[in-house]
Parts: sequence; C-alpha cells; structure tokens
Amino acid sequence: MKFDEKYGIKSFKKVLSVVDVLATLRSGNRIIKITDDTLVTSLAKETARKHNITLIKKGEEMRRKIIAGNWKMHKTLKEAVDLAGNLKERASQFPSDREVVICPPFTALSVVGEVIKGSPVKLGAQNTFWEEKGAYTGEVSPPMLKDAGCQYVIIGHSERRQYFGETNYSVNKKMKKVLESGLTPIVCVGEKLQEREDGKTLSIIEEQVREGMEGLSTEEASGLVVAYEPVWAIGTGKTATPQQAEEVHDFIRKKIRELYGEEVANNLPILYGGSIKPQNIASLMECANIDGGLVGGASLELESFSQIINY
Ligand code: PGA
Repeated sequence: MKFDEKYGIKSFKKVLSVVDVLATLRSGNRIIKITDDTLVTSLAKETARKHNITLIKKGEEMRRKIIAGNWKMHKTLKEAVDLAGNLKERASQFPSDREVVICPPFTALSVVGEVIKGSPVKLGAQNTFWEEKGAYTGEVSPPMLKDAGCQYVIIGHSERRQYFGETNYSVNKKMKKVLESGLTPIVCVGEKLQEREDGKTLSIIEEQVREGMEGLSTEEASGLVVAYEPVWAIGTGKTATPQQAEEVHDFIRKKIRELYGEEVANNLPILYGGSIKPQNIASLMECANIDGGLVGGASLELESFSQIINY
C-alpha cells in the first residue's frame, strides 16, 4: 500500500470486488486471502460477511481447521443423499473458520458430490490406488475420484492397515499419486494399544511419518493433511485425553519441521481421530496442535456431526 503525499490517498495494487467474493462462494471456498495492497470494496466486505466468507491477510492466516466425516462402510444411496442434503442445508450455520468434509463409500461419491455441489461441504474418498488406470480389478484411481467430485482422500486408515494389508510403503505410493492428481491426502497414523503400553508410541509414529512421506518434495508436503488416530481409540468409545493427543500432534509437527521446514510444519493441519463426540471435541480443539477431527461413528448422524462441527 502506498500513501500518496500530494493527494493523501492510498493506492492499491489489487481490488477485491463483489464479483470475486461471489466467484469464491460458487467454488465452495470460504476463505479469501488478501494483502496490504488489496482494496476491499464495501459491497465485497458486506457480501463476504453475509455468506460467512472470511478475509484473511497473508501472513496472518491461521491453520485450516478441518472436520471430516469418515462414513466407512455405511449408508445406501438414499441414506447418503439424505444426510448430505441435510448437511448442505445446515452449512450456512456452520462457523466459517472450519472446513467440513464428508467421505462416503465409493458407491455414493458421485451422487453425494452432486448433492453438495456449490455448498461449503467438501467431498472425500476413503481409499484409492496408486495407478491411474489399468487391469486392477476392484481398485479406484485418484483421477477417477477427482472426476467424481472429490477434493480429499483418506490414506492409510488403520482399518486398511489392519484388514487390507496397507503398509507405509503403499501409503507412500498412494500419496504421491494423489498429490500429483491435485487431491488432498488425509494421511492416517497411529499406534496400537500394545505399542502404547510398550512405550513405543512415538517411535511408531515417527516411522509412519518418515516412511509414508519419503521422497515428497517440500511443495508436495505442503499439500498434506495428517490425522493422528490411536488405533485403541477408534470405534471403542475410548478417546485419547487432550494431553495424550497433543503430545503426539506436537511430535508430528516437530518431525515435519525437521523434514520440510518451518513453513510446511506451521501450516500443516493435523486432525485427531478416535471416538470423537460432541462432548469431547471442544477440549481436544483447545490443544495448540490439534487442528480438527476425523470423525467415524458420530459423523453418521446429522445432529451429532453438526454439533461436532459447531463445537
Ligand atoms: P470413530 O472412528 O470416530 O468411530 O472412532 C474414527 C476413524 O476411524 O476415522
């Protein structure tokens, strides 16, 4: 921003008009980054406020907060469409500083994608393969997910590791393809109960992070979302305490800082997952390094998921 001495007026390099705000609204985004050199017209400001769009100055942005619902192997097409439609209707009441993602099973992706189109609710898949196309019976590729309307993909969920042979190696291969396809991976890490009891939590997490992210460039790493999901807390009703979760989240951020530097680490959203409920989300979200939640069971019902989003 320049201050013109003669006329006493500021000159701006960019103007953010109501047209830009409406374009952002149509794209489903709710955050617009501006700089000191941006003049925001009063109509643009008013429209942004009306539609819950946040204007954030570059350098002052906070980490994205993400609440993602992992529907796992649940919901027929009708049930999926009903829940997605109801969420879309509520979306204008959700706080504008958090991103809402739903991850239905493959069969429901494209119909749910149609239902939530134009709303701030985003679509994610629960898994993918690392090849683009070919003779891989039963698999679905990242470009196919993108075509179905997805912006996110969960990778390396512990249920995939436990029942379907997912390893850090396959997580790494998938992650590269997902990033190359322009999707955001939500990479899951987490220790089993025995590993925690044996005092191995941090070394297991370290290995999952290091091997899962091997070979990623700094630019690729800046496109990631990580979810810490202690296996013993998933679907068991046993949530990690905020202290237990924060210790691991802090550790993950430090590891990312070592591998990719300050900027990537500071901007990386790290979600917690494992028996999140409306009653425990707020205390988890108070932790400095917890940026959101990956919600299983409680994301299957409109009321509980909405309460979690509105924590
Ligand atoms: P849960 O599942 O909330 O039902 O424990 C979380 C997850 O597996 O992502």
